[in-house]
Amino acid sequence: MTRHFLTVATLSSEQLVTLLDRADGLKADRASGRTHDELSGRSVGMIFEKPSTRTRVSFEVGLTELGAHPVVLSASELQLGRGETVEDTARVLSRYLHGLVVRTFAQARLDALASAGSIPVINALSDEAHPCQALADLQTIRERLGGLEGRRLCYLGDGNNVAHSLLEAGALVGMDVVVGHPPGYAPDPATVEHASAIAQRTGGRVGATTDPTAAATDADVLYTDVWASMGQEAEADARAASFAPYRLDHRALEVAADNALVMHCLPAHRGEEISAEAMDGPQSVVWDQAENRLHAQKALLLELLA
Ligand code: CP
Ligand code: NVA
Repeated sequence: MTRHFLTVATLSSEQLVTLLDRADGLKADRASGRTHDELSGRSVGMIFEKPSTRTRVSFEVGLTELGAHPVVLSASELQLGRGETVEDTARVLSRYLHGLVVRTFAQARLDALASAGSIPVINALSDEAHPCQALADLQTIRERLGGLEGRRLCYLGDGNNVAHSLLEAGALVGMDVVVGHPPGYAPDPATVEHASAIAQRTGGRVGATTDPTAAATDADVLYTDVWASMGQEAEADARAASFAPYRLDHRALEVAADNALVMHCLPAHRGEEISAEAMDGPQSVVWDQAENRLHAQKALLLELLA
């Protein structure tokens, strides 16, 4: 059966830790100049139906560094943008390519690509999940804190794609993940329930609350993301009023653990979801997070395509 990476929760805890170990190894190799060619002769398509800086560049560079040929496709250049179905696109591209990296809107589009095609599909962000981001986030937390199990991560803001993948990833490695969100912006209850079932097995804990102070108290990691995600631009003003108490700023830093890590998947809006002091302060690890996208995704590509 073709293996895909559409959500983090499709991994076992062991598979997730193996990916993180491999990501660390690839990071060390890159620093020491050791090169790789395991994906030589493979061509991988990258379809972007939304903008991207980190994901687009880190996948293209990562594929190149593993010896593969990336084929970058914006939706507007494909017949997909003129009404060719997702299923037909998947069938055709499966005849040329060895894998697909896809950033899109509904998760159902990824499911359709995966089931109609015959090559691995990687979710490069959907409205529901951002699993590649969560891999890099765990790699970053582990290298900074020395471990993951029992660490408390507080995500402040919208219960969105990034929050969903953090809930699942944290649950798999036995973390305590809490989402502090405004009323009406909770993470998807089915995702929380699924992550909670995983956490029961791993000794982790997941939850959600509308109390930002309670969420941030004693957190080892403070994490936030934009208030209006791609596709929600028209809601930005309405959201800003509800989200202000959930900004990652001195209030959260004061109640979190000493030297708590400050994280953001980026792009960031200083003065909105995160203060400039938090984003650019000594506890921020946002640039490591961005870098680790490269290493974590290379580990994933080797797992699915080598
Ligand atoms: N964090 C992230 O996925 O960034 P891009 O939207 O720039 O890819
Ligand atoms: N939640 C954000 C993440 C961007 C990387 C969005 O979907 O736009």
